[in-house]
Amino acid sequence: TVGNSTNIFWHECAVGNIDRQKLLNQKGCVVWITGLSGSGKSTLACSLGRELHSRGKLSYVLDGDNLRHGLNKNLGFSAEDRTENIRRVGEVGKLFADAGLICIASLISPYRKDRDACRGMLPDGSFIEVFMNMPLEVCEERDVKGLYKLARAGKIKGFTGIDDPYEPPLNCEIELKMADGICPTPIDMAGKVASYLGEKG
Ligand code: PPS
Repeated sequence: TVGNSTNIFWHECAVGNIDRQKLLNQKGCVVWITGLSGSGKSTLACSLGRELHSRGKLSYVLDGDNLRHGLNKNLGFSAEDRTENIRRVGEVGKLFADAGLICIASLISPYRKDRDACRGMLPDGSFIEVFMNMPLEVCEERDVKGLYKLARAGKIKGFTGIDDPYEPPLNCEIELKMADGICPTPIDMAGKVASYLGEKG
C-alpha cells in the first residue's frame, strides 16, 4: 500500500537519471527559496534562472504564487493547505530534479517540517535551501502587492508574519540577508547561489 492506493507498482525506464545527467551535462537538484511575502523570493528565482541560463545550465522556476493559478488552485492558506501546497511542489521538484533540471522553487513555505519533508524526498545534497532573511519591517515597507496593508487592516486573515507563523530554517545551505541596512541586489544574490551550485557540482 502506498498512500491511499493498493496494488500499485513501480516501473523503471530504460533511460535513467544518470543518462540524462550526461546528456545535459548537469546534475538535477532543487533550490528551495523560503521567506516572507515580499522578501524577494520570486525576484531571486528569476535572476537565478537567468544566471544559470547564461552559464549554460537548464533550470525551471516553480513559483508559489504562479502555481496557485493552476496545479494548486484548489488550495488556500490554512496550515493544512499550505502543507499540501509544499508537499506537491516538493514532489514536482523531485520529478524535475530526476529529469536533470535545476528546479528553483520559491514559496513562503512557512513550516519547517514541510520544508524538511521536501528535503527528505531528494537524494543527499540535492536539496539546497535558501533563506531570504529579510526583516518583516522591510517586507512590509515594500508591500509590493499591498497585502500587508490589507492584513494589518484585518481584511486578510492568516497572513504570514502578521497573524500566521513563519519558522525560519535552522540549517539552511544559504542565508541571504541585509548588510549595513542594505539589501543585496538580485544579481549579487543569484551569483552567490549559482557559485554555490557550481562549487558543489
Ligand atoms: S505558502 O505559505 O508557501 O503555501 O504560500 P505560497 O504558495 O508561496 O503563496 C504565497 C503568495 O500568496 C499570496 N498570499 C498570501 N501569502 C501569505 N499568507 C496569506 N494569507 C496569503 N494570501 C495570499 C502572496 O501574494 C504570496 O506571494 P509572495 O510572492 O510570497 O509575496
